[in-house]
Amino acid sequence: MSLEQGRKGLKMLLAAVAGLVVVAVLPAQVAADAMVEKSIIDRIKPIGEVNVGSAPVAKAASSGADGKGTYTSACFACHGTGAAGAPKMGDKAAWKARIAQGEATLFDHAINGFKGMPAKGGNASLSDDAVKAAVKYMVDGSK
Ligand code: HEC
Repeated sequence: MSLEQGRKGLKMLLAAVAGLVVVAVLPAQVAADAMVEKSIIDRIKPIGEVNVGSAPVAKAASSGADGKGTYTSACFACHGTGAAGAPKMGDKAAWKARIAQGEATLFDHAINGFKGMPAKGGNASLSDDAVKAAVKYMVDGSK
């Protein structure tokens, strides 16, 4: 074996080793990333669960058919201010055509959502009756 051939052989051996190292290390790195990601998700998860689980305001509002109370706690944010293009309570012009659709349609849109109007105003824990009472309260105040 000449010296030149020996060097070539050594280079090839080194290249092979380097290749092996890459092949061995990459999956380990990916697995480590996945573990980090999972641990982050695990750490975030309980906070989300707590937030979803505890909605005392919503429960209080949904317990009765208190139209005004439900409106104030769940609807005013948009319908008291016109936020998101919501028809403002008391704005007769904005409500005229909506009221003309009939109560059943308004109930349906308030409970199930309609365009920019989220179902139950985004408060899924409200009972259907609470939402209906809030619709009545808003409609009565917008005629
Ligand atoms: C995040 C903002 C937001 C909240 C909160 C919200 N609304 Fe709305 N609501 C809208 C918007 C926007 C519209 C107009 C939808 C459209 O016609 O494009 C609307 C429309 C309505 C309509 C008329 C639907 C129709 O057919 O014309 C009713 C009734 C209604 N909301 C009831 C409620 C009640 C009851 C609540 C509280 C439980 C509530 N909304 C909370 C945004 C909101």
